[in-house]
Amino acid sequence: MNFTDVAIEAEAERLLGSLMHVECDPKGRKWNLETCREIAPLTLEINQLKQEKNAVILTHSYVEPEIVYGVGDFKGDSYFLSLKAKEAQADVILFAGVVFMAETAKILSPQATVIVPDRGSGCSLADSITGADVKRMKSLYPDAAVVCYINSTAEVKAECDVCVTSGNVYDIVAALPQQRIVFVPDRLMADNIRHELRQRGVNKEIISSDGTCMVHEEFDVAQIKQARARFPGLKVVSHPECTEEVAQASDFVGSTGAMMKYVKATQAPYFLMLTECGLVGRLEVEDPEKNFIGGCRLCPYMKLNSLEKIRDALRAPRPEQIVTLDENLRQRAARCIDRMFELTPAAT
Ligand code: 13P
Ligand code: SF4
Repeated sequence: MNFTDVAIEAEAERLLGSLMHVECDPKGRKWNLETCREIAPLTLEINQLKQEKNAVILTHSYVEPEIVYGVGDFKGDSYFLSLKAKEAQADVILFAGVVFMAETAKILSPQATVIVPDRGSGCSLADSITGADVKRMKSLYPDAAVVCYINSTAEVKAECDVCVTSGNVYDIVAALPQQRIVFVPDRLMADNIRHELRQRGVNKEIISSDGTCMVHEEFDVAQIKQARARFPGLKVVSHPECTEEVAQASDFVGSTGAMMKYVKATQAPYFLMLTECGLVGRLEVEDPEKNFIGGCRLCPYMKLNSLEKIRDALRAPRPEQIVTLDENLRQRAARCIDRMFELTPAAT
């Protein structure tokens, strides 16, 4: 598509309004009018394709900032984006995130064509367990409630009683009537659930599988101690996919959405964000007065998204970019996610 110089200049200025604040750029780029001009034809084309195809783009906060601020219609954490996928009236949902998120969108909006820019955008948690593994765990613990973290495949969700996200996991697990809980696939989140339930005086046995998030498992307490020594007044903010030790050494633990709310509401000289770097980029844009010290890491799967792949997938998706699910499996997975919506406190 051809755009006039005037349209490109206006788009570059619009992009610059957000991107100029990003220092934690995954490719080390410095955003200025020139770099914004380079991507402006792409964002203009994508935004035009969205109108032509009645498409909506859901962006997880971990994808690159030019996607979040250039073409994203909704940006946020897994819970927020699954709500938006459920409400979507669009013919096409493009999920700039990872494949399990796009599958969740298809489960909740089966009438829409759901597309992913890169079929290789897996997740070390979602890829750690199969539906057959969950069936085996269910047969070992027939009295247990089977709970899956949303970072799981549709096949796994179809075997589970209820799904949770990082934003509602503690409340939902605490509210389940069963004393025994099989929790998949995140072993470290399971440790954090045990800790939190002990704090709340809730007695439950949590049996977990062995998955971990390759990004969050790498943070350690030594790093927190060093940072606190160097930056007095520092606030440490972590995700429940981190180890229990890291979570306990943090000032705040929550979903990426809750982490953002906490930083925006907190006055402190510095913040250490123990999560994926994309979240720091979002905070730099939306709360430019705050200071972030190093610590975040890149998720290689989230970084497989790009404006070029989004444009190509919207123009004419290749078969592997279109999410398809067996209808029986989809309905079983939908029951597991709908149970989550029923059990989630309104404020999440
Ligand atoms: P959130 O739902 O908190 O955004 O987490 C998603 C995720 O993949 C974290 O690694
Ligand atoms: Fe999966 Fe971890 Fe990447 Fe999130 S950050 S998508 S949990 S690998």
